[in-house]
Amino acid sequence: MHVLGIESSCDDTSVALVNCSEKGCFVIRETTASQIEIHQKYGGVVPEIAGRMHAEKIVPLIEKVLKNQPSPDIIAITSGPGLITGLIVGTEAARALSWAKKIPLVAVNHIAGHVHAVEIEAKKISYPAIALIVSGGHTELILIDEPNNYKLLGATLDDAAGECFDKVAKLLGLPYPGGPEISRLAKTGRAQAIDFPRPMLKSNDYNFSFAGLKTAALYWLRDNKLAATKITETFFQKAFGVFSWDNPRSAEITIHDFCASLEKAITDVLISKTTKAAQEFKPQTIVLCGGVAANRKLRRALDDALSVLSPAPQFRTPAVKHCMDNAAMIAVAGYTQATKKNFTTWQNLRADPNWELGR
Ligand code: KG4
Ligand code: ZN
Repeated sequence: MHVLGIESSCDDTSVALVNCSEKGCFVIRETTASQIEIHQKYGGVVPEIAGRMHAEKIVPLIEKVLKNQPSPDIIAITSGPGLITGLIVGTEAARALSWAKKIPLVAVNHIAGHVHAVEIEAKKISYPAIALIVSGGHTELILIDEPNNYKLLGATLDDAAGECFDKVAKLLGLPYPGGPEISRLAKTGRAQAIDFPRPMLKSNDYNFSFAGLKTAALYWLRDNKLAATKITETFFQKAFGVFSWDNPRSAEITIHDFCASLEKAITDVLISKTTKAAQEFKPQTIVLCGGVAANRKLRRALDDALSVLSPAPQFRTPAVKHCMDNAAMIAVAGYTQATKKNFTTWQNLRADPNWELGR
C-alpha cells in the first residue's frame, strides 16, 4: 500500500510517499521544506509567517514526491495538534487531493506520528508500549496497550522540555531552535558544575514542569558571572534594569558547564519518570520520540537506565532525522490506522489545533 504523508503542523512542510505492508514501512521518497531560517530572526515560530510559507510550498512538494510514482492508495494528513495556520494549509491540500483523485483519507494525530517514527524502515513496536514524547510543544508519557489505543499517563504542567531548551538558549543569545545549540555546547561542559533544580522529580505522578527550571537558569545568569561567553546584556538590562559582570563567585564556570548542567537537569527528570513508568507498567517497548529525542545524551542515558531493569523493555528511538517533524512518520501512523479502517471523509476532515491524544 502506498501512503502519501503530509505534515504542516509547525515550521516544516513535509511530504513523503511510503510503501507499507505487513513486512513494514519503507520510505520511497520524502521531502521537507524547513522554515527555520525565517523564524530564527524572530527567536521562535511566527504562526502567520508559517501559514504563508506552508501555502507556498505544499503543492510543489506534493508534486515533487508523486512525480513518476503510482497514485497513492491513501493520504495520511496531520490534522492536529499544532498551529492552526499550518494545519489548515495541510488539511485543505489533503481534502482537495482526496476529492479530486478519490483517495481515502486518514486524519493523523501529530504525536501519534512521532511515536510511529520508530517504525520507519520496518522496525516494529511490541505492545504494550510506553512512549516519552519530548518536543518543542509537548512532553508526555503515554501508555499504548495496542496500536491506536493511547492512554495519557502524564504531561508537562507548563513548558515542554524542548521549550525549556529553546527559552534558555534565547537568554544566552543562541539561535532558534536552542536544543541542538545547547547540546552542542554541553559536549565539553561539566554537568555537575551548577546544581539546577529537578522539577517534580519526586512527585508521585507522571507529570512534568519545566518553567521553574527556565526561571532558575535566568536567575543564575543574573546572579553569576559566566566566563568565556557573551550573554545578551540588553536582555538583562531590560529585565532587571542593571547588568553586572562583577560577581566573581562563578568565574570558573563556562557556557559549556552551564549548558551541560541544564541539559543534565532536564534529562534526569525525563529519565526518572520514564523509568518509574516502565517499572509500574512493565511494557515490552519504551519509545523515545519528538525533536528532543535527537539529543544524544538523553538517548544514551535512557537506554542505560532501562537496560538495568528487570525485565528490561526494548528501547526504541527514531533515527535522528526522523525525531524532528517529518511526513514519513505521519504516513506510518496513517497506515496503522488504515489497517483498522479508521478513515475520514474529505467532507469531515477538520484541522484540530488542540487534539489531545489519550486524555
Ligand atoms: O518535534 P519537533 O521537531 O517540533 C515540535 O513538534 O515541537 O521538536 C523541536 C524541538 C525544539 O524545541 C528543539 O530545540 C528540540 O526539539 N531539539 C533538541 C535537540 N534537537 C532538537 N533538544 C535538545 N537536544 C537536541 N539535540
Ligand atoms: Zn513535532
